[in-house]
Amino acid sequence: MGGVYKCISLIAERITENKDFLTELDREIGDSDHGINMARGFAAVMEKLSPEDSDIGATLKKAGMTLLSKVGGASGPLYGTAYMEAGKITAGKTELNPSDMKAVIESAIAGIQKRGKAVKGEKTMLDALIPACESFSESIAHGADMIAALESACESAREGVEYTKTIIATKGRASYLGERSIGHQDPGATSALITLEAIRDYYKGA
Ligand SMILES: Nc1ncnc2c1ncn2[C@@H]1O[C@H](COP(=O)(O)OP(=O)(O)O)[C@@H](O)[C@H]1O
Ligand SMILES: [Mg+2]
Repeated sequence: MGGVYKCISLIAERITENKDFLTELDREIGDSDHGINMARGFAAVMEKLSPEDSDIGATLKKAGMTLLSKVGGASGPLYGTAYMEAGKITAGKTELNPSDMKAVIESAIAGIQKRGKAVKGEKTMLDALIPACESFSESIAHGADMIAALESACESAREGVEYTKTIIATKGRASYLGERSIGHQDPGATSALITLEAIRDYYKGA
C-alpha cells in the first residue's frame, strides 16, 4: 500500500470522525456545513484513490482536484488548491524528508492564500497552518526529525485554534457576525489541526 494513500486515508478517517464536531463549530459562526463538506469531500477522495497510489505528487493532485470539484463552500476550493499546490512540488516522490514536508506545508499555505486572500489573524484555517509551518521549519532547522517537527507543528496549530476564539472573523461567512464571532473556535482552523495531527500520527505509525 502506498504511503501517501495510507496518510490520506487517515486524514479522511479523522475528518469523518469529527464531522459532527466540525459542523457544530460551523453552526455557531457559519452555516452548519463544514463537517458535512469535509466528510463528503474526503469520501469522494477515497473513492478516487487506489491503495496502490504511491506517487505523492500525482495522488495529492488527484485528491485536490476531487476536493475542488466535490466540496461546496469556501473550504473545498481552499483545501483543494492546497492539495494541488502541494502535489506540484512532490511530483514523482514516494517519500518525503523533513525539508520536503516543509515545502509541502508552505506550498499548501501559499495555495490557500492565493485563492482566499487571507492572512494570519483573520480567524481562518491559516491561523492553525501558519504557526504550524513556522514551528515545523524552526524545529527542523534545529535538527528535529520528522515526528518531532510534526509534534511541534501540531502544538502550534492547537494554540492557533485557541487563538481563533479570541479574534474577530474578517474573511468568509463568519465575518458577517463581526464582533459576535469572538468566543467561537474557527471550524476551518480545527479541520486544519485535525489534518496535521493525522499526518503526525501517520508518521508515528498509527
Ligand atoms: N478566505 C479564506 N481563507 C482561508 N480560509 C477561509 C477563508 N474563508 C473561509 N475560510 C475557512 O473556511 C471555513 C468554513 O468552511 P465551510 O463551512 O466548509 O465553507 P462556507 O463558509 O462556505 O460554508 C472557515 O472556518 C475558515 O477557516
Ligand atoms: Mg460553512
